[in-house]
Amino acid sequence: MDERHPRFFWKIDSGTQSAWQIEVENVINTGKVLGSESIQVIIPNLILKPKHVYRWRVRIWDENDCPCAWSSWNSFETGLFGEFPGEWIRSSITGTDSQPCAYFRSLFYLDKQPHKARLFMTALGMYEPSLNGSAITENCFLPGWTDYYHRVQYQLFDITHLLHLGENVLGVILNEGWFSGKITRQWTLGRIMYGETPAFKALLEVDGGAIPLEWRYNINGPIRCSDLYLGENYDARMELPGWNQTGYTENGDWYPSLTCSHSIRYDWTSAPPVIRADFLKPVSIRNLCGELIIDFGQNHAGREHIVLHNAPRGREIIIRHGEMLDNDSRVYTISNRGARATTIYITKGGEHEVIEPHFTYYGYRYISISSADDLELEIESVVIHTEMERTGFFNCSDERINQLYSNTLWGEFSNYVDIPTDCPQRDEKLGWTGDAQVFIGTAAYHTGIGAFFSKFLTDLELCCNECGVCPQFIPFYRKNDFIGTAGWADAKLICPEILFQMYGDRRLMEKSYKSTIRYLHYVYENECIDNITSNAIWGDHMAICATDKSLIATAFFANALHLGSKFAERLGDLKTQNELLAIRQRVRIAWQERFLDADGRLINDTEGALLLALQFDMVEQKHIARLVEQLRENIERNQWHLTTGFLTTSFLMPVLLSHGLEETAYRLLKQEDMPSWLFPVMQGATTIWERWNAWSRKRGFDYKNMTNYGSSFNHYAFGAVAQSFYEWVCGIRPDPERPGFKHFFLDPHPGKHGFKFAKSEYRSVYGTIKSEWMREDDGILFAFSVPPNTTATVLPEMLLLTPGEYTLFRYKNGRYVFDLK
Ligand code: BGC
Repeated sequence: MDERHPRFFWKIDSGTQSAWQIEVENVINTGKVLGSESIQVIIPNLILKPKHVYRWRVRIWDENDCPCAWSSWNSFETGLFGEFPGEWIRSSITGTDSQPCAYFRSLFYLDKQPHKARLFMTALGMYEPSLNGSAITENCFLPGWTDYYHRVQYQLFDITHLLHLGENVLGVILNEGWFSGKITRQWTLGRIMYGETPAFKALLEVDGGAIPLEWRYNINGPIRCSDLYLGENYDARMELPGWNQTGYTENGDWYPSLTCSHSIRYDWTSAPPVIRADFLKPVSIRNLCGELIIDFGQNHAGREHIVLHNAPRGREIIIRHGEMLDNDSRVYTISNRGARATTIYITKGGEHEVIEPHFTYYGYRYISISSADDLELEIESVVIHTEMERTGFFNCSDERINQLYSNTLWGEFSNYVDIPTDCPQRDEKLGWTGDAQVFIGTAAYHTGIGAFFSKFLTDLELCCNECGVCPQFIPFYRKNDFIGTAGWADAKLICPEILFQMYGDRRLMEKSYKSTIRYLHYVYENECIDNITSNAIWGDHMAICATDKSLIATAFFANALHLGSKFAERLGDLKTQNELLAIRQRVRIAWQERFLDADGRLINDTEGALLLALQFDMVEQKHIARLVEQLRENIERNQWHLTTGFLTTSFLMPVLLSHGLEETAYRLLKQEDMPSWLFPVMQGATTIWERWNAWSRKRGFDYKNMTNYGSSFNHYAFGAVAQSFYEWVCGIRPDPERPGFKHFFLDPHPGKHGFKFAKSEYRSVYGTIKSEWMREDDGILFAFSVPPNTTATVLPEMLLLTPGEYTLFRYKNGRYVFDLK
């Protein structure tokens, strides 16, 4: 890692910590430090050198001041700390779409067997490294997408075990990737933004010394094109057997590599890699007049892995990807929109060959394979996403809700591919900030996303304009458009807030603080007229009932001012805190004057508007009951259907359950008719759809409504309801005052019409939290688990729990009876 002030985390097995001590071998020993913090611990005087392996250990004192044994030794290795010497290496390829990949090789000698060998690599584009014919890594899409105007990530590989005494060959396949592939060109109408020539850099250090590398390249290799939107063209007849091994004889297609300059910041890749996470087997294979139609049973992001046996030479096999089947039971490709999303493979012939594209992935449940029905095939799909540890689990007695929950998980898996994208299939795959902020709260329960989002937010800050305004997608490479708008620009505050609450991570908030304050003042001074802003370009995107844009924009601005004031408070900037609170109060009052009628009801009577009022605390206490009533009436009038869009759907369950409308909440959640969360589930969906009505068993694709054309079946925004399964159905919620679940709330809401049982588990940075309930004849049984070094408060009784397992809280007549066993 490149972090000069690393944060130390440890977990204790039981009880509560009263003090700690860390030793970094041969560097520092903190001695006993009083305090119960066991996450995000920084050692102020720790000074680290680059390219060095450190060992560290920790011990703690318990609540009785008894010291525990030392932990085992752990280690970490530091990176380049910004210095990446050497030149950028490139081929002659430049400037057009669908370029072939360039193959690079470098031959070098070692006169002794190395003890420690490290390869540092990065690229403007994507690269696949190999040594002596073996892949150095299976991670995909290196070095990842960052704001290439400012920074690029580099990777570090331990290659000691791959090196030989004598001759060795390092190989690199280089592709355009996010740097100059279609993904950036398409959105800039073909204009090249970052640069037109992919290039890479490599630094090989063996036993502390750099090995000089000379590179030669060949552009007549088998990957004729590999692109995030187009897919891959692979001509196996052009393979270069042995090109990355010793003993290879170069033909006339190999040339000395070229170099180029690109001044940029080098950051070690702090986020987890994109991996080939899983393999899916077909659930059905049909032969439709010679075209094979394969169903993998699950919509997902990935790519096919097909083994061919004894294929004839020169056969062109075309593989298309689709999320659905069309009316003729063929693979439906319309939701790929402008993305060709196709693999074209030409066989070399022989016993065994493998089709799996390199620098691309697709969003699909089905594939079609042409010209292969007479071949012997083994077909699988490789699921691809960023490596994430599962931290959240939920299960209840209603299988439809469990399917909905699963769909939200697959929505995340399909869209967390190096950056949080909107969708994996069509010509977008972009880090739309609105989608990212809507779903981050859910994702942070499902999986550990701290490092993933730290990377994204680092680029978000770099991409903000001089006023601190955040663009609508990140990394952002356009100029002057798609900048800032309600619900999208707010990712700048909402995402760091979630990282703070869930992991106690203050760094993102600290790093963006100045720019955040600039942004809030900018909106107030430039976008507000009489304390009202109307900048909500996308409104409540995809809502069935549109809400007034000024109402949305001003409510989001008030929420941003609230979060900004919290940041200021936490960082001890009380002057700014007061300033922001004063602005917020003016904005709230203007909002009330504009949008409330004389009876204190909202003039704009939509579910979305009412949710914004209640979720963002836009009205005075005396008006709340009336708005809650208006919301209930509205939902009843809509026959218990939701009519909300991307920005407000996730507020439904929290607002209804926290205001006593449990019956309404559960009726809405269990609604099966369009529009509802369960409607897609009842149509067989395995992911979350972009639109409530994208397809139905009765009507198929709703093309009469042209807005549905190209609609995605894998957009996670509406799946943000799953956050409420953890936080409101099972009631596990962080306390922002003691973040990272150091203290948390247990506030389950079974309601009268909920499920028979529900259970949830969240593996917090301190340890595992559990909350479950089960309906019995005479009441409801509850079971909670509070991890070591934390406390929890059961609501509404305010019962404080210390670490341990608790069972049998019984709920009678709406109240807990504390029947502790
Ligand atoms: C994306 C959305 C995104 C939006 C902005 C769409 O094309 O797919 O998810 O947030 O543009 O409205």
